Amino acid sequence: MAVPFDPFEYYQKAVQYPASDIDIFLDVYRKVYDRDPLLIREDFCGTALLSTTWVTGDDARRAIAIDLDREPLDWGLEHNIRPAGSPVEERIELIHADVLDLEPGPSADIVCAMNFSFNILDTREKLIRYFRSVATSVAADGLFVVELFGGTEAIVAGIEDREKDGFTYRWETEWFNPITNRARCHIGFLLPDGTAMERAFSYDWRLWSLPEVTDALKEAGFGSVRIFWEGVDEDGAGTGEYRETVEEENQETWLVYVVAKV
Ligand SMILES: C[S@@+](CC[C@H](N)C(=O)[O-])C[C@H]1O[C@@H](n2cnc3c(N)ncnc32)[C@H](O)[C@@H]1O
Repeated sequence: MAVPFDPFEYYQKAVQYPASDIDIFLDVYRKVYDRDPLLIREDFCGTALLSTTWVTGDDARRAIAIDLDREPLDWGLEHNIRPAGSPVEERIELIHADVLDLEPGPSADIVCAMNFSFNILDTREKLIRYFRSVATSVAADGLFVVELFGGTEAIVAGIEDREKDGFTYRWETEWFNPITNRARCHIGFLLPDGTAMERAFSYDWRLWSLPEVTDALKEAGFGSVRIFWEGVDEDGAGTGEYRETVEEENQETWLVYVVAKV
């Protein structure tokens, strides 16, 4: 009998690396402020896996997790937060809201938007509005961290399958329009028994470039914007190791953390 698919479970296993995110948060924040961050605000949080992992790692940590969609928030409460125990649950605040409606929004040591989620903001006006609201709400000794991807293959329609532990993760770019830099992308999952969930998650994104994001952050009030670039191995696969850089050769795909400070 085919295994029933839980798309959120497979999503988390396929594309989320909360431990790596937290390593970067701690490393960069300690170097800038010489102390540990305690409160994170996870915008576009989905199932709040990052917030749960953050709070579970230290009794003094708290998290605020924000998403527009009730379904992943409820799933995250049931499958991530509650199983971590009530001391963890008590230190995570889930907010069901559009990040564009947060004026200015809750303060935090680190505000983050992972997995390219802000590509949903499809106009420069919306991008700057969101960045401005973060700039005015992040703590005075705070950082804003966003994840971005790009590269020559990011703008080519096609399917890329990646083997994961016990299943195949499929990334599909259905189309890319070079006139608007909009793309329609999907995530799918294939199990060894032949069960497939194609297009389990779909995204209509504006593929923002790094200079566009850097310029928008500065216009929104961030004084410093730094880029941390993921290294690749000889096969072009990401190593999970990041280093700060200002000049790179283009790659088929690249992934960065952008770290901004007011
Ligand atoms: C690609 S998922 C990211 C989930 C998770 N943060 C991660 O790193 O994988 C994007 C999430 O952003 C949420 N979202 C989209 N637009 C939003 C908005 N304007 N305000 C808040 N959340 C939004 C969606 O509901 C979805 O759960």
